[in-house]
Amino acid sequence: MQAVQKLMKVFITRRIPPEGAKLLSQAGVYEVAQWDSDEPVPRAELLKGVEGAHGILCLLSDKIDAELLDAAGPNLKVISTLSVGFDHMAMDEIKKRGIRVGYTPDVLTDATAELTVALLLAAARRLPEGVEEVKNGGWSSWKPLWLCGYGLSGSTVGVVGLGRIGLAIAKRLKAFGVKRTLYSGRTAKAYAGEVGGEFVPLDTLVAESDFVVVSCSLTPDTKGMCDQAFFNKMKKTAVFVNSSRGTVVNQEDLYQALSTGQIAAAGLDVTTPEPLPTDHPLLTLKNCVVLPHIGSATYSTRGVMAELSAQNLLGGLQGTDMPSELTF
Ligand code: NDP
Ligand code: DGY
Repeated sequence: MQAVQKLMKVFITRRIPPEGAKLLSQAGVYEVAQWDSDEPVPRAELLKGVEGAHGILCLLSDKIDAELLDAAGPNLKVISTLSVGFDHMAMDEIKKRGIRVGYTPDVLTDATAELTVALLLAAARRLPEGVEEVKNGGWSSWKPLWLCGYGLSGSTVGVVGLGRIGLAIAKRLKAFGVKRTLYSGRTAKAYAGEVGGEFVPLDTLVAESDFVVVSCSLTPDTKGMCDQAFFNKMKKTAVFVNSSRGTVVNQEDLYQALSTGQIAAAGLDVTTPEPLPTDHPLLTLKNCVVLPHIGSATYSTRGVMAELSAQNLLGGLQGTDMPSELTF
């Protein structure tokens, strides 16, 4: 890789996997400042850290808004996020300032799809409950109806947002003998044929699916989309899974739906807020499995994400191609 012009300042908002850190140190960027911790940078430190920066490598937990862009100032050429989701960034403000954005699509698709399937099975087949019963002595004998759940074979799966990850989830679920795959979104997808996907209105998907899997991006349209009306349309035997963003779901309404038996179970990899407070009502429910946003958390995926975000950053600093530039 061509050496990056000296006198450029880069701010990295967290300790990142070595694959990315190595690329940046080899590139000879003049000044790399970093929040050298596994925990998020406090807002005041973030605002101070980005002052005068030409490039920022950030995480989904860093709010990139007008205040931060003003704090960074006119040098800022590129923001590279270690995520495919970019809902933490004020894209209109970024565009206004002519700043380029890099992100990490594709490289995390398989890991996230795999985790979503694991979460679906954990919720549908009540795995955390079963593990708990083994430990607490609740396992007295084999009983015909004890810890029964719902299986995928012969079922209808509804994917809300058949994008890269939605398609990868649908492909994996096919192997479990799913009979129908429905999907909803803004437009029908030519590639849906790969999973025999039927493009249907959201209401149809919600009403006819045994498993509703949310894998869309968070936008003003999808914010709060899974609300009381949504859950009321679901079958009482259906399982709800969300691995997109927490804010797509109205959590009070989800709690109601789960606690009243309106739906059978839920699996959430994402919540609002993150972390979810340990006294949150959803955590009192046996039929709700909550994971700490670990969709892309395999060692190799996080390594490749770090590498890609470093390459994006360097491309933006050099004014050359970025391997994954967000066009908006
Ligand atoms: P894509 O852009 O490929 O897919 C996003 C999909 O969302 C598109 O197919 C789009 O469909 C759909 N969508 C947009 N608006 C709506 C809507 N109103 N109703 C239904 N669908 C809609 O992104 P990825 O698949 O790569 O990632 C999706 C999201 O997953 C990310 O934005 C991120 O939030 C989340 N994610 C979570 C991870 C985790 O750890 N849990 C890991 C990685 C990503 P259309 O084109 O028709 O608008
Ligand atoms: C993303 O990339 O958007 C995920 O939420 C974390 O990998």
